[in-house]
Amino acid sequence: MERELVIVLDFGGQYNQLIARRVRECNVYCEVKPYTMSLDEIKKMNPKGIIFTGGPNSVYDETSPHYEKAIFEAGIPILGICYGSQLMAYTLGGEVKTAPVSEYGHTEVTVDTTDALFEGVSEKTVCWMSHTDYIAQVPEGFKVTASTPVCPVAAMACPEKKFYATQFHPEVMHTKEGTQMLKNFVINICGCRGDWQMGSFVDETIKALRKKIGDGKVLCALSGGVDSSVAAVLLSKAIGKQLTCVFVDHGLLRKNEGDEVEAVFGPDGPYELNFIRVNAQQRFYEKLKGVEEPEAKRKIIGEEFIRVFEEEAKKIGAVDYLVQGTIYPDVIESGLGKSATIKSHHNVGGLPDVVDFKEIIEPLRMLFKDEVRKAGLELGIPEYLVFRQPFPGPGLGIRIIGEVTEEKVKIVQEADYIYREEIAKAGLNKGLGQYFAGLTNMRSVGVMGDFRTYDYAIALRAVNTSDFMTAEAAELPYEVLFKVTNRIINEVKGVNRVMYDLTSKPPGTIEFE
Ligand code: XMP
Repeated sequence: MERELVIVLDFGGQYNQLIARRVRECNVYCEVKPYTMSLDEIKKMNPKGIIFTGGPNSVYDETSPHYEKAIFEAGIPILGICYGSQLMAYTLGGEVKTAPVSEYGHTEVTVDTTDALFEGVSEKTVCWMSHTDYIAQVPEGFKVTASTPVCPVAAMACPEKKFYATQFHPEVMHTKEGTQMLKNFVINICGCRGDWQMGSFVDETIKALRKKIGDGKVLCALSGGVDSSVAAVLLSKAIGKQLTCVFVDHGLLRKNEGDEVEAVFGPDGPYELNFIRVNAQQRFYEKLKGVEEPEAKRKIIGEEFIRVFEEEAKKIGAVDYLVQGTIYPDVIESGLGKSATIKSHHNVGGLPDVVDFKEIIEPLRMLFKDEVRKAGLELGIPEYLVFRQPFPGPGLGIRIIGEVTEEKVKIVQEADYIYREEIAKAGLNKGLGQYFAGLTNMRSVGVMGDFRTYDYAIALRAVNTSDFMTAEAAELPYEVLFKVTNRIINEVKGVNRVMYDLTSKPPGTIEFE
């Protein structure tokens, strides 16, 4: 059965990813494409429907993005959102005007519940508005299907041609019944079956990878993080021993992490792949000796990582493909596919430049993070790996303020282990965005039994965040903080003080360096 596709045509709106997410939540596969994609290319993809996104422009601006009118003659259902709705009205002969004041925020909208887009939606429903221009006159053949006191056309429809448009944003969570509206569009109006599921994605991807790779050799830099782990397992299921995974243990991983990764991907694990663990700990500690400045540490760790990987790649010889765990937000954020390799440079410090390979394979480039996790579960990867919190490439190197030494790594590993254990015991692990222990560069005086101590202070961090661009310090229960503090001071040699960091981001960052 052919996979159903809905295209989100991007006119520069800030919520384009969200639209794609919401559509996929209706079990309909969806891709974001730039408005510069030609109609021929769109038709070749055989979409069941198209959604025009919002955008910052006015349809009358000379530089504003438009689309050829022929798209409205292709027989494909179209939903226009915000700028997309104005573009639909304007292109089809309606009238768009600029209001003296913008309409912004939660707005009660009165909708025509007999309209297919609003089936099952309340007659008065709260929607999210964000616009200055508005549709003053609908094109011929259209009817007004929603309005507010200041917005005469909050939605319009031409059911005969299956064209629908909303001035508000159904994709944002502030639009209370927005998901129902999008579901009405993709299922009832476009006629999608809604059978997109992770299991079928996994099967299809494995088949496609086998076909593409044939008997070629594939190399993967495995960090043990969610994305590279899921990518590696997908590849191993597709091509088995033709895949070699290189896992560099830089000595800056969390306690037991290297062994955990090896247990899953190594020879005793469930997967049939060539696994190389490079124990490069001493090499990294040596390079980091005496270095205190955070950026200098990051650079050293990144560069050394490449050197180690390069040496291993040379031993393996020329490979046909290099695997990367690029995911959909990376693709969209870097300009719709143009710069997917830029992310790989950020992530693994420019690997493609130093490895001799023909092509990059990015099996997850169409998945959102939570979808990558679902794929991971589908592939049988253990839950503790699938639901890992983010861990920075430079690892504990940027959680130890100042110079990194083997002794300090040990201290922070032990403290972090206790912290994570207590958070899990208290059942708080799934609700927090990120939490970890860091080692401050501060030593202070304490008393232990009858003796004076002069030891390090550990800083605990826990944040709530959805996008990791902004974050709030989490309100952890005092009893958990006390327990962690007591345990760390009693069990971790070299620590006599524990502090909890209450700084938000901004002005702080999530990591300490
Ligand atoms: P900051 O500290 O900038 O971190 O607030 C935001 C998020 O990014 C992670 N992070 C990194 N991830 N390589 C990575 O792959 C890095 O160099 C890096 N630095 C920070 C951090 O853990 C948090 O989730």
